[in-house]
Amino acid sequence: MGLQVDPAFVQAAEHRPKPTISDAGSIPLIDLSPLLHHHIPSDPSDPAITDELSNLITQIGEVCRDWGFFQVVNHGVEVELLERIQAAAREFFALPAEEKRRVQRGVLNPLGYYDTEHTKNVRDWKEVFDFVVNESETDSLLLKNQWPEYPPAMREACEEYVEGAEKLSYKLLELIAMSLNLPAKILNSFFEDSTSFTRLNHYNPCPSPDLVLGVGRHKDGGALTVLFQDEVGGLDVKSKANGEWVRVKPIRNSFIVNVGDIIQVWSNDKYESVEHRVSVNSEKDRLSIPFFFNPAASTNVKPLEELVSEDNPPKYHEYNWGDFFKSRKDSNFQKLEKENIQIYHFKRV
Ligand code: OGA
Ligand code: NI
Repeated sequence: MGLQVDPAFVQAAEHRPKPTISDAGSIPLIDLSPLLHHHIPSDPSDPAITDELSNLITQIGEVCRDWGFFQVVNHGVEVELLERIQAAAREFFALPAEEKRRVQRGVLNPLGYYDTEHTKNVRDWKEVFDFVVNESETDSLLLKNQWPEYPPAMREACEEYVEGAEKLSYKLLELIAMSLNLPAKILNSFFEDSTSFTRLNHYNPCPSPDLVLGVGRHKDGGALTVLFQDEVGGLDVKSKANGEWVRVKPIRNSFIVNVGDIIQVWSNDKYESVEHRVSVNSEKDRLSIPFFFNPAASTNVKPLEELVSEDNPPKYHEYNWGDFFKSRKDSNFQKLEKENIQIYHFKRV
């Protein structure tokens, strides 16, 4: 019997998903309800910090250190926004291929529809639609949204959803800053003119789920990712404790949050960006909606001065986020001979 999928999708043997995956526990769960009735004071020693909030900050610090991944409930993003964007995404991906290709990404503009993304040079079993919060154009990078004609409600559903996702991301960023004993808003200004973008991921059922991945193993290059997934499941996280892949159990209306490479560098490796991937299955299609919270293209990323010292010297050289982002976007567009850009290329030896 021949292969049931194009060889471009087939993972090397050591990266294929095992038929059984650990479901001994999942990533930690954090209840954000203290934020529903308290704002985050800007100074970590502010007496307005209640025990509830201070416990939350401690928990955030522990999960960022031990897992790099966690789920949040009572996050304040309205369920109605989640329902509308899911409905629009399902309608969009159900359109005929030629209709979706009308908003296909190109070499110059990486936004829109795309079904040939490669992760580490193996094709992903997925189709995506990307859009940014802030459209922009520089000499090297054009970020311009391409909205489809159908479904007509898609643009509004996406724009309203992202307001909620961005607000939540700022709260998480502030909690993370506090957990590093820094003023809550110390990182916020990096996100003016952000290059944040949202991706609608659609994974079709696959005849050979043992050979392929929906997204190959990778780390997210930005600051934080806030991801909504439907009830199917398939996101696997590499446990820092034992190196095993752990499936993230879907919890209705929750978000999955993970630290990206930029927080790893800012925190000088205190909070590491963790490898993850997406397994697919032969029966059900799956939808996920990550919001990639990324700073402005002009941001030069390096360990925060407040966190380095003689005893803890900076572990990275400075790099420019806009250049890194562009290089990633280019390399995912086509199969290359060499590995794409990674933060360890900036590691000091
Ligand atoms: C990604 C990603 C996970 C998922 O798009 O970077 O890791 O569950 N997606 O779709
Ligand atoms: Ni990812």
